[in-house]
Amino acid sequence: MSGATLAERPAAAQGTADAALRARILALRDGLEHGLIGCTGLVERLLIGLLTGGHILVEGAPGLAKTRAVKRLSDGLDGSFARVQCTPDLMPADLTGTTVWRQDSGTFEFLAGPLFHSLILVDEVNRAPPKVQSALLEAMAEGQITVAGHTHPLPDPFMVVATQNPIEHAGTFPLPEAQLDRFLLHVVVDMPDEASERRILDLVEGELNHHAEAMPVKLTLEEVRAAREAALGVYVSPALKDYLVRLVAGTRTDAAAPDLRAAIEHPASPRGTLALMVAGKARAYLHGRDHVIPEDVADLAVDALSHRIGLTWRAAAEGQTARGIVEGLVRRVRAL
Ligand SMILES: Nc1ncnc2c1ncn2[C@@H]1O[C@H](COP(=O)(O)OP(=O)(O)OP(=O)(O)O)[C@@H](O)[C@H]1O
Ligand SMILES: [Mg+2]
Repeated sequence: MSGATLAERPAAAQGTADAALRARILALRDGLEHGLIGCTGLVERLLIGLLTGGHILVEGAPGLAKTRAVKRLSDGLDGSFARVQCTPDLMPADLTGTTVWRQDSGTFEFLAGPLFHSLILVDEVNRAPPKVQSALLEAMAEGQITVAGHTHPLPDPFMVVATQNPIEHAGTFPLPEAQLDRFLLHVVVDMPDEASERRILDLVEGELNHHAEAMPVKLTLEEVRAAREAALGVYVSPALKDYLVRLVAGTRTDAAAPDLRAAIEHPASPRGTLALMVAGKARAYLHGRDHVIPEDVADLAVDALSHRIGLTWRAAAEGQTARGIVEGLVRRVRAL
């Protein structure tokens, strides 16, 4: 690489470099999609997390390729990867690391835990006890960890993908709403349709017979940081910002329609509005645009907002869901 910074390079060379970088991001997307049948939405959201520095919560029944998706993403990145399986007896130090006394040197040494990696899969996060969950979410929010009075910075990029299984309740600790807010997106994965399931059989059978296809690219962390910078530079017009605000205001009890007012206990905060804007920029980048369009916002609104909204007990008892409420808002609020 030349010594010139991104800003110093001549515009034409910069344009070529940007196009080459985006092509590599798209190659990463193609590689992910190739090995994850029918998971276009999940793949796009994982890449949005990567391009925004956001963390992703993936919810789905067992066996829906959640672990496979994150492992495949790690195959496409030239960074370190760790996986943590949460259990009720997990301790915060199992994630953060501990300080140990070294008899031979007469000093304390910090042994870094699995959080000190670029990509971390936290499987079954709702099986971890609350102290572990709060250590994890604090690291996600602050990008650093304090152990025994010493603060240790986490790598950059640092991306957590946490999974949870919706059907198990026994022995789980549901993430508190305030902690859910730390996730950029909450993605729900559904069962594949029959055609996809048929393709999954062929794909996995081929892999069992040693025909696994390697990822077509391995992005360096420098490339990820540069792509993040490019994605954050995507333009959001004033009219589109107004749309974002009107959408989120629709969850606030003072502005909401009467039926929603009765259903929403606590609305989405400005962190939710910002999350939707930033995620929309990354989606626009992935779709080859230099500006966000209403479709970016409408497509991501449910995953960016619904985990930040609390329902009244009455609405929950009636079977309403936060996802359903945001879907209704997207239909109701006019884009421009
Ligand atoms: N859409 C898919 N594309 C490719 N393979 C799939 C898909 N769905 C499931 N599989 C296959 O199903 C198996 C289960 O996948 P995986 O272990 O990733 O599931 P999971 O969602 O992490 O499950 P759990 O919640 O039990 O951890 C794997 O062999 C995987 O290859
Ligand atoms: Mg798994």
